Amino acid sequence: MKKLILSTLVFSSAAVVSAQELTSPDNNLKLTFMLDSNGVPAYTLTYKDKTVVKPGRMGFIIKDGISLADGFEMTECDYDSVDTVWNTVWGQSSTVRDNHKEMFVSLTRKDNGLKMGIRFRLFNDGLGFRYEFPVQPSLRHFTIENEVTQFVLTGDHKAFWIPADYDTNEFQTTTSKLSEVFELSKGVIKNPPATNEPLPYPAVQTPLMLKSDDGLYINIHEAALIDFPGMHLNLDDENFVLSSHLTPDRNGDRGHIQTGSVSPWRTIVVSDDARDILASNLILNLNEPSKIEDTSWIKPIKYVGVWWEYFTGQGSTWAYSDEKDIVIGVTDYNKVKPNGHHGANTEHVKEYIDFAAEHGFDAVLVEGWNQGWEDNQAYLKEKIYSFTTPYPDFDVEYLSDYAAKKGVKIIMHHETTSSVIDYERQLHDAFKFMNKYGYEAVKTGYVGSIIPRSEHHDGQWMVNHYNYVAETAAKYHIMVDSHEAVRPTGLYRTYPNWLAQESARGTEYDSFNGNNPDHHTILPFTRLMGGPMDYTPGIFEGDLSVYGPNKAKLSTTLAKQLALYITMYSPFQMAADLKENYMKYPDAFQFIKDVAVDWDATYVLEAEPGDYITMARKERGADRWFVGAITDENARTATVSFDFLPKGKTYTATIYADGKNAHWLDNPKEYRIYTKKVTSKDKIEIPLACSGGAAISIE
Ligand code: NOJ
Ligand code: CA
Repeated sequence: MKKLILSTLVFSSAAVVSAQELTSPDNNLKLTFMLDSNGVPAYTLTYKDKTVVKPGRMGFIIKDGISLADGFEMTECDYDSVDTVWNTVWGQSSTVRDNHKEMFVSLTRKDNGLKMGIRFRLFNDGLGFRYEFPVQPSLRHFTIENEVTQFVLTGDHKAFWIPADYDTNEFQTTTSKLSEVFELSKGVIKNPPATNEPLPYPAVQTPLMLKSDDGLYINIHEAALIDFPGMHLNLDDENFVLSSHLTPDRNGDRGHIQTGSVSPWRTIVVSDDARDILASNLILNLNEPSKIEDTSWIKPIKYVGVWWEYFTGQGSTWAYSDEKDIVIGVTDYNKVKPNGHHGANTEHVKEYIDFAAEHGFDAVLVEGWNQGWEDNQAYLKEKIYSFTTPYPDFDVEYLSDYAAKKGVKIIMHHETTSSVIDYERQLHDAFKFMNKYGYEAVKTGYVGSIIPRSEHHDGQWMVNHYNYVAETAAKYHIMVDSHEAVRPTGLYRTYPNWLAQESARGTEYDSFNGNNPDHHTILPFTRLMGGPMDYTPGIFEGDLSVYGPNKAKLSTTLAKQLALYITMYSPFQMAADLKENYMKYPDAFQFIKDVAVDWDATYVLEAEPGDYITMARKERGADRWFVGAITDENARTATVSFDFLPKGKTYTATIYADGKNAHWLDNPKEYRIYTKKVTSKDKIEIPLACSGGAAISIE
């Protein structure tokens, strides 16, 4: 494959005819918006006088051949500023400060009068800008051919990247110079664009984390992805220009827009301290406030599930039968021969409910409860599952009553295998079924390609689908965790019932070909910038050969698995391992039982993407704190200073640390647990093993 050099559309810095400036509240960031003599719009951003992005073009080329990217004059420029604090329904902090300066420029094409607005918001931690398409007589609706937006970098930055792909984000992250992306991305792309050829130029997904040689941490993503295709980034690796690459639809179009609407925000979070990237609320602040008025029914969830046993190779199956010629809605399952090892059977689910009740978990996820799993890999039929018909050995009524008596919820599972049209047809009935049996949360799934639309997972059509499911679920008071969806963009502020998403490589990959030891030190800087991840941590038995044919091995120590409950933020947090493994290590399991899933405050103590993260969090509404520290393949010493604790009080810290000889590869399960009295003046050092970690609970 030959590399295609992207023609860089030019903005002429020498011929600037107008320049508008905006400064962040703390004056560290400066944005300049410019028009050159050809009416080409561009922006540039500096942080503490260092250039973050050089002048980069803005705008769109729309069908057929109409430019919203040059020929403009500025017809209006308004300024505004906001400094407010809003309350989160759940989150990493109970309140969020939204402190920004705003500039809105209205552009009009000199030749034909077409208008487009650009709204900039500058926070202390970065920039967001979006395009606004006003209603205008000569432009009622249009189709995007290309978005022109550029992020013009100052050099060959270190990048933490996954290759562009319209259908999946479940890649290992590569750390390399931008100039190395093209060579290294060969052969990695799983679901390339419609051509079934890898992109002929390097392209990566967002959130993209970058580090410049002069010490700037730069994160590029988007916020509030609504009725628009997801954005990937083309890379001109000679000039280090990233440019928007919108996910096309099945016809190659990149968005159908009706005027009177806005684009998602393009975001650049920046700092000279990596901790600020993790502490940023910029993406959340750029999303609209909750559309759900009564949020009292929305609650973070800590859960166990009939799940890991499907991945470990012990024979447990989602499917009830091994017969393949089953037709949903036609075949009578009572006449079908069961395979004898169906996971979601009543007795087995009861054991999970008992376990959850005994150990204080809120809920049990049950996958494989519904009809249709026998032929779910075929991807050929439009109707694959029923979301209202349990298998004959799953007594939904009995289990709902049983769970209710035990004070535990069952989490619904809707794997759609991307049969999305049929899922939408069944959606209301499926949610009514959930209401009837007392289910409050659903895990959805979009494995495979979109049937029968042939759309992409990250395209506008699917973006609208995910948002429609979250919005519809809210009407039924249902919380959502979506797997294989487009990566999140902070929409959980607007739909707080959308608790989590997967949208990256989670623990499931530890049972296939693995996750790298540095994976967990990168995800918070990339995937998690847009929202919580249902990573499913908590695997104690990391050597899957103990179960049989599966030879996979976890790439962390046991103590690091505990730390992930803090460093991998989610209000929907699983204890993913088998019950019997937790019973083998009840002292370590105590941390998972204790750890909170909702927070008043978060403190990033140490962080470097790809290397290490140490974080502390205060439980929402309680005087309990939890700390998580993790490292990559290199051992290190984490320093925890307790100055986040209230002054003048003594607390008991229980520390779960790697054992002296622990190592992720050959000795992951050696850990030690000890207690220590601490005050806000204390500072402790904890050795972390190679791909190790430490977790602390403080009361
Ligand atoms: C992939 C999901 O990520 C996983 O969690 C789920 O168990 C399977 N699909 C089956 O739905
Ligand atoms: Ca997945």
